[in-house]
Amino acid sequence: MIPLIIDCDPGIDDALALLIAAGSPEFQILGVTAVAGNRPVDITSMNACRILDAASREDIPVYSGCPRPLAYPQARCNSVHGEDGLGGAQMPTRRSPAPAHATQFIVQTLRDAPAGSITVVAVGPLTNLAMAEIMHPGILSRARSLLVMGGAAFCSGNITPSAEFNFYADPLAAHIVMQAGIEVKLFGLDVTSKAIMSTEWIASFQEMHSTCGTAARTMLDAYANRDPLLHDACPVAYLLDPALFSGESCSVAVSWQNGPSEGHTTVWRSDRRNKPFPANAVVFTDVDSVRMLSLVRQRIAQLP
Ligand code: RIB
Ligand code: CA
Repeated sequence: MIPLIIDCDPGIDDALALLIAAGSPEFQILGVTAVAGNRPVDITSMNACRILDAASREDIPVYSGCPRPLAYPQARCNSVHGEDGLGGAQMPTRRSPAPAHATQFIVQTLRDAPAGSITVVAVGPLTNLAMAEIMHPGILSRARSLLVMGGAAFCSGNITPSAEFNFYADPLAAHIVMQAGIEVKLFGLDVTSKAIMSTEWIASFQEMHSTCGTAARTMLDAYANRDPLLHDACPVAYLLDPALFSGESCSVAVSWQNGPSEGHTTVWRSDRRNKPFPANAVVFTDVDSVRMLSLVRQRIAQLP
C-alpha cells in the first residue's frame, strides 16, 4: 500500500482526485488537508468531508488549513467550481474537520513516520506545504515523493497569460516548495490540458446508479462548461499507473514577486546551459488520456 497525504482545495477536479483515491485499495490515505484556493478554506474543508463521506470513507480524517496565501491578506478564489465549490452536487456530511491544523498534521505525520515512507499529493495552492516547511525546515524532504498539480512549464497560464491558478493563488508558497530540496513530480497545464473530458464520458457516470457516480456526473456537467480538464486527477492516476505519463527532469523557478508574472514558472531543460540551480522537478508533458480517463471511471465505479 502507498501511505498518502492529499492536500487540496475542493473544487470539482479535486473531488474527482479524492474519489479515485478513495476507490483505490492501493492507497492508505492517512489524511486529507484542505487549503484556501478554488473557494475559501471553510468551504474547501467541508467539501473534503462531503466527498469522502459520499465514498463511505468517514475513516479518513480531514484537516482544515491556511485561509490565505503567504504574502497576501486575502485568498485568491475563483468561480469555476460554483459558489459551493462542487457545482451544486448534493453530498451531505455529518462531520467537521478534525481540530488540528492541516500544517500541524503534515509536519507531525512526516516527522513521526520513517523518512521516505509517505507520498504527498498537492492539488491546490501550496500554502499548507510551504508553512510546514517554514515551521520545520526539511520536513518535505522526509516524504517518499511529492506530486504537485501546478504551473505551466512550456505553455500559457489559465488564470493569467503566464500563470496557472494554483501557483498564482500563492506564488511565494510555490517558490518555497519548489526550492525545498525534494524533487517535485510536477503536473502542470502542459500535461493536464491533455486530460480532456468528453460529454459522453461524463454522461457515462449516470449509468453507475451510485451516489458517487451521480455526484460525479453533476459536478462534471457543471465544471466541463468552464474547464473540461481533469487537472487534479493526473497525479493520483500517475501513482496508480506511472506508465500513463511521460516527462523530463528540469530546473523550475517560480516568480513570486508581486506583478504581472507572479506565479509564472520558468523552466530549464536538462540540456540547457546556465541553469540557476540543479534539476528540482520532473515536468510531465504527456499522458495517454484515453487510458487515464478509463482508469478514473473504473475506480469511481467501485464506489457506493
Ligand atoms: O489550474 C488548475 C488547478 O486550479 C486545479 O487544481 C483546480 O482545482 C484549481 O485549484
Ligand atoms: Ca485543486
